[in-house]
Amino acid sequence: MFKSIPLSIKLFILLFVINAIFVVASYSKPNLETFNRGEKIFKANCSGCHLNGQNLIKADKPIIGSLKLKSKGVLKKFLESPPQPMPKYDNITSMDAQFDSLYEYLIMLMGK
Ligand code: HEC
Repeated sequence: MFKSIPLSIKLFILLFVINAIFVVASYSKPNLETFNRGEKIFKANCSGCHLNGQNLIKADKPIIGSLKLKSKGVLKKFLESPPQPMPKYDNITSMDAQFDSLYEYLIMLMGK
């Protein structure tokens, strides 16, 4: 079946597939800068109660594996009106770059 396809077309398809793999790989590669920024924000704001993604106040509500990480939108809403005694974080959610970094950091380390 493949014998009937000219070599040049086979090569073209091969290159296309290789290229597609590189494009996908570079998109899914965690960006170190984003990760570092997210880590800083987490350490400054969250780790007091959520050391290593756990929950020191309500042990049954850790960040690790939390459904609140399902999407950016869900986490954003949660941080803007969390249940007491967790403080709200409009200061973070109001700044896209900050919030995005925090989100990326959380899903990289604590997502499912
Ligand atoms: C003062 C302590 C405190 C701080 C600081 C804090 N949290 Fe929380 N967090 C809590 C408590 C308590 C809960 C459980 C709330 C409840 O009753 O559902 C919680 C719950 C959560 C949950 C949901 C877990 C689940 O699935 O139920 C997420 C996600 C979360 N926090 C993220 C964060 C992030 C991100 C930060 C920093 C920006 C942060 N928290 C800062 C105390 C805190």
